[in-house]
Amino acid sequence: MTLQINGLSRRFGGLKAVNDVTTSIADRAIHSIIGPNGAGKTTLFNLVTGALAPDAGRISFQGQDITGWTPERLAGIGIARTFQRTSIFKDLPVVENVALSIRSRRGMNRSLMRSAATERSIDVEARDILAWVGLSSKEHIRAGSLAHGFQRALDIAIGLALKPKIILMDEPLAGMSRGDRETVATLITRLREEMGLAIVVVEHDVGMVMRLSDRITVMQHGKVIAEGPPAAVREDEAVKNAYLHGNFAA
Ligand SMILES: Nc1ncnc2c1ncn2[C@@H]1O[C@H](COP(=O)(O)OP(=O)(O)O)[C@@H](O)[C@H]1O
Ligand SMILES: [Mg+2]
Repeated sequence: MTLQINGLSRRFGGLKAVNDVTTSIADRAIHSIIGPNGAGKTTLFNLVTGALAPDAGRISFQGQDITGWTPERLAGIGIARTFQRTSIFKDLPVVENVALSIRSRRGMNRSLMRSAATERSIDVEARDILAWVGLSSKEHIRAGSLAHGFQRALDIAIGLALKPKIILMDEPLAGMSRGDRETVATLITRLREEMGLAIVVVEHDVGMVMRLSDRITVMQHGKVIAEGPPAAVREDEAVKNAYLHGNFAA
């Protein structure tokens, strides 16, 4: 088991945003977390990626307790998240955005000494990653001027530069055209097939989630109400009820 979450809780004032969640993400799984608005998906995501600290519960990765670790420390052991568009350095070229991520993995963010050989090896690695996500022809474009779908591909490239074992994505398909959603869905599938990664996807687009995922965890009011393969989750009565006034058919 790659990632194990046990009894995880986080409250905001009197609100139990995540309430005693236990689940696990298997190696090489595409595991989605769905649920109506306010279910606690993003809070769970933030707990697992180290952006928020839990009030209770444990998280472990490959047997190691990682509860309360910072995002940087998590990245160091192979847990990456895709960044929202706002985290892209919009004024820098695409290739430089990936190079920055490679430098941070190599612990070079504070280094003043940069040899030409190191710079070349970073450039080669960045171009390899961009080729893999299909952005080769856009290497020198200002990142902020990329179309929406390509910016998400760049998000994934920046995450991949950290050489992760597992990558977590909060609403990777949000606000995208149908064509862009297909592009990103294909990339997610290839992350597993070609890179051997486990992928955790928090997503509103339930239709796409049903197609992509091996396993789905459904949350409501901070709790897990159902978990299993897509076919089982789709037929689950508690899930149907949770989405009665929601967008399950979306
Ligand atoms: N920083 C915060 N402060 C106060 N309440 C929050 C905060 N973040 C989330 N919440 C509340 O926690 C609940 C779960 O939110 P969230 O995890 O964003 O749900 P989801 O991503 O499933 O829509 C919601 O009721 C939300 O209003
Ligand atoms: Mg959310």
